[in-house]
Amino acid sequence: MTKIYSLDKKESNVITPLGVKASTGDFFSYLKEDKSKLIFAFIFIFMNSTANTVSPFLVSKAIDRYISVGNVDGLLNIILILAGVATITIATGYAQSMLIGRISQRTLYRLKEGLFAKLQSLPTAFFNQNKAGDLMSRINNDTDKINQFLSQWIGQFIGVMFSLFGVVCFSLYLNWKLSLVMMSMVIFIYIITLLFSPKIRKENKKNLEANSDFSAALQENLTNFRVVAAYSKRDYLENHLEKKNNATFKSALRSGFANRIFEPSYEFFGAIALILVLSYGFHLISIGGATVGVLIAFVAYTQRFYDPMKTLATAFGAIQLASAAWVRLQEVLSLENNLKTENQKGDESGKPKLRLELKNVSFSYDDKNMVIENANLSFEPGKTYALVGPTGGGKSTLASIMAHLYDPTLGVVYLNGKDITIYSQEETSKEISVILQDPILFTGTVAENILYANTDFTNVSIDDLNRVLEHKGFKDVIKRFENGLSTTIKQNGAGLSIGQKQLISFMRAILREPKLLILDEATANIDTVTEAILNKTLEALPPETTKIIIAHRLNTIKDADEIMFVNGRHVTPAGSYEQAIRMITDAKRNS
Ligand SMILES: Nc1ncnc2c1ncn2[C@@H]1O[C@H](COP(=O)(O)OP(=O)(O)O)[C@@H](O)[C@H]1O
Ligand SMILES: [Mg+2]
Repeated sequence: MTKIYSLDKKESNVITPLGVKASTGDFFSYLKEDKSKLIFAFIFIFMNSTANTVSPFLVSKAIDRYISVGNVDGLLNIILILAGVATITIATGYAQSMLIGRISQRTLYRLKEGLFAKLQSLPTAFFNQNKAGDLMSRINNDTDKINQFLSQWIGQFIGVMFSLFGVVCFSLYLNWKLSLVMMSMVIFIYIITLLFSPKIRKENKKNLEANSDFSAALQENLTNFRVVAAYSKRDYLENHLEKKNNATFKSALRSGFANRIFEPSYEFFGAIALILVLSYGFHLISIGGATVGVLIAFVAYTQRFYDPMKTLATAFGAIQLASAAWVRLQEVLSLENNLKTENQKGDESGKPKLRLELKNVSFSYDDKNMVIENANLSFEPGKTYALVGPTGGGKSTLASIMAHLYDPTLGVVYLNGKDITIYSQEETSKEISVILQDPILFTGTVAENILYANTDFTNVSIDDLNRVLEHKGFKDVIKRFENGLSTTIKQNGAGLSIGQKQLISFMRAILREPKLLILDEATANIDTVTEAILNKTLEALPPETTKIIIAHRLNTIKDADEIMFVNGRHVTPAGSYEQAIRMITDAKRNS
């Protein structure tokens, strides 16, 4: 079965339920490494908020015990203590934010590393089914939300919790009745929070999705900009992006509003609480149930009780946002690579030759429409095979299955008599090289691209590489590049013709000395002179090299040992060259 890797909610078939693997699915596993730093940070936060809550208490004592009776020495003592408390507040505040900053950056680093590792491990099908822009948005945008939460809010959140606890303790100790009056408004705050939370969560999720959607559209249009320009579709592009931008804007407004909905209501209830505290406090003073110092402390405590609620509400919003972001990251982290490699060692009995067989292989990209149906093919070492057929017939798909870029939907591919899935991707790519129809290049030099993922030539100099390639017959091919192997390649290979890209990927493949070489229309965009050179380099390969050539130029397949015709799901032997030509012309007539 082809597994569906789409992260798109509309298709709602992300394979693994969230949080299956504790190692990658659990957020705290990313924090764990900084456990000791976290403990220290908590200690500082605790000291900081305690120091913060103790001062009103000290002030009330100063008023009632010393100021009211004119005791200057006592007052000086309290002032000294207050100064000490202030120093502790500043020092612990600083230490705490330094530590939290470090912890959050380190966690973010590990999280991104986890994401990269996961992306590396996923099969081709994943990248087929998901938009690069959406993935980028998850890696950049969503991790940033987590960063904000960690660096700004986790410290505040915990600090506020400690402070509240301190305020409750001190105020209860000073006067429990007044304290209960002060806290009475919490019930309303609780109800409001409970009522609005689900909506806030929903708005945050929508906002992140809109962001992703915009990134995906932007990325797609920027990469395909030449097509956009060629069809004079710039207006459309602008319109399209504007719509997405508009959607992002609106959802950002809504989520921003939702995240701040609590603030004014908390302020309102804080004000009411203060009025209640003052009224009841005056009453208590008048009947001798409280002192002026206590009431002054309570004015401060009321503020220190309800202000943090606002911080809590904002922090709560950030937590909601971060948790929505975390869910989206988890969707990526919990994907499992179902491209079967069991990583047992392949047969190491030193076979230089390679046999590839397809048994009853069927393949579908989407589990609905078969692209290849029941193919039974066998490729002998040292022979040359040609795959021909109309565009869209399934030739490239077949090549991808043979190189184990995809698992067959049904059936088995055998490499040297063993299910290809027991070999690791690394082992397979050592034996099999594919020149893709649309070569993929990275920014860098021609040499770097030729050497890409080639472990036999690590640290080789350009001169040495030149020598090796010339020896293989590429002397005139290298001349097709302005600065030879040092020619720089821009993003997506811009500045090179498709033919040049194909030459690079040709040299890349030949240098690896694969036992099976698959050329997917590798010379389709190359002039006949260069093509003749390339054919010579092919002939110079070791005689046991198996070659599979996909071509639409029929003269290139004349010398093939066997020709296969690939059309509309079926792969049939074409017998002779003449018969192959007949099948192709028939297919053209019927379409
Ligand atoms: N990545 C893909 N996702 C979904 N369908 C695909 C993908 N690549 C190719 N197809 C479909 O598979 C069929 C065979 O395509 P392909 O193997 O590229 O044919 P050929 O190389 O013979 O031109 C086509 O109908 C094409 O639309
Ligand atoms: Mg093709």
